[in-house]
Amino acid sequence: MVRAIVVGAGAISKVWFAALKAEGVDVVAVVDLDLALADTAIAFCQLDSAEPFTDYREAIAERDADFVLDLTTPGAHRDVACAAFAANLAVLGEKPMSHNLDDARAMVEAAAHAGLLYTVSQSRRWEPGAMVMRDAIRAGRIGRITAVYCDFIMGVHYTGFRAEMDSPLLNDMAIHHFDLARMMAGVDPLGVYCRQYNPVNSWAANGCAADCVFDMTDGVAFTYRGSWCAEGKHTPWNGNWRIVGTKGSLIWADDQPPTLHEAEPSEKFMWEYWNEELETPEMPRSGMHENLREFLAALAGGPPPQCVATDNLKSYAMAACAIESDRAKSPIDISPIV
Ligand SMILES: NC(=O)c1ccc[n+]([C@@H]2O[C@H](COP(=O)([O-])OP(=O)(O)OC[C@H]3O[C@@H](n4cnc5c(N)ncnc54)[C@H](O)[C@@H]3O)[C@@H](O)[C@H]2O)c1
Repeated sequence: MVRAIVVGAGAISKVWFAALKAEGVDVVAVVDLDLALADTAIAFCQLDSAEPFTDYREAIAERDADFVLDLTTPGAHRDVACAAFAANLAVLGEKPMSHNLDDARAMVEAAAHAGLLYTVSQSRRWEPGAMVMRDAIRAGRIGRITAVYCDFIMGVHYTGFRAEMDSPLLNDMAIHHFDLARMMAGVDPLGVYCRQYNPVNSWAANGCAADCVFDMTDGVAFTYRGSWCAEGKHTPWNGNWRIVGTKGSLIWADDQPPTLHEAEPSEKFMWEYWNEELETPEMPRSGMHENLREFLAALAGGPPPQCVATDNLKSYAMAACAIESDRAKSPIDISPIV
């Protein structure tokens, strides 16, 4: 039986404990700075072999395990992951990989140095709409990709760590959309120009909204408009997407099944196009659960998970370099990092 130490028993941990149970993982320790949260998780999720801890270093020293599941807040990710690597334990961690690029790179290097599996969960990769968009692009349905557009516009009155962190939109939320752009369009970042701003009614100290333009590989332009300080009709958490190719467009909006709009070349001023709603499967498991399954398969000797940290660093670099671009008021070259 594979054994896990879970660090962080906050809001998102309930989804993970259910997935761990379903996959037959033996949780041997639950760690949280707040012992009551660890105790509650153990009792509520009936984790019979788990002991509660407040210090992950003690848990790692005292409990035999195969991996650490890191569900702490972003500022703690580096210390937790590096302590696990030092004890020869693999790590599966929540997004975002870190809260700055130096820490993110140090974590990837520490895992490589120790020869250990390190994966970052990007749950939205298993959204059915995202997978349908990716598959249609891979099948060449819209030809060669030229442009990707994403709008994420919500009013989210968050409290907790997001209210404290710098650039909460780019650091904690946009990372999902940046990762989805790479996944769906099959391209990687080369450079970014970003302007962050804080609307007058913002409840964050800074960076509650941002506009970014990324240069991606294959000549693809990716434009992102994000705000989680916008009242009124919201986009979904997944964002609203249009991906344009040489033969037409794919649209995934309002969490509806994606639609394909294929142009018919002609002599007309504007070409006609066909509309097709793409068949979209139900997903039986959460995105976290799918991440866990890929991670466990890799731990057992299978292929690397799609969110392996060496790859996820490219998504994280998009967020970190967007923040840097805003600070520098200048475009930033991402290619040396990725
Ligand atoms: N994939 C998703 O859709 C998704 C959704 C929500 C949260 N997340 C991510 O999951 C992580 C946790 O988010 P959350 O909403 O559960 O936050 P949370 O604040 O509810 O929980 C985090 C917990 O970690 C604990 N913690 C922090 N530092 C610690 C340390 N050094 N040692 C032990 N415990 C420590 C805190 O006490 C807290 O209970 C974040 O990185 C967040 O971005 C992902």
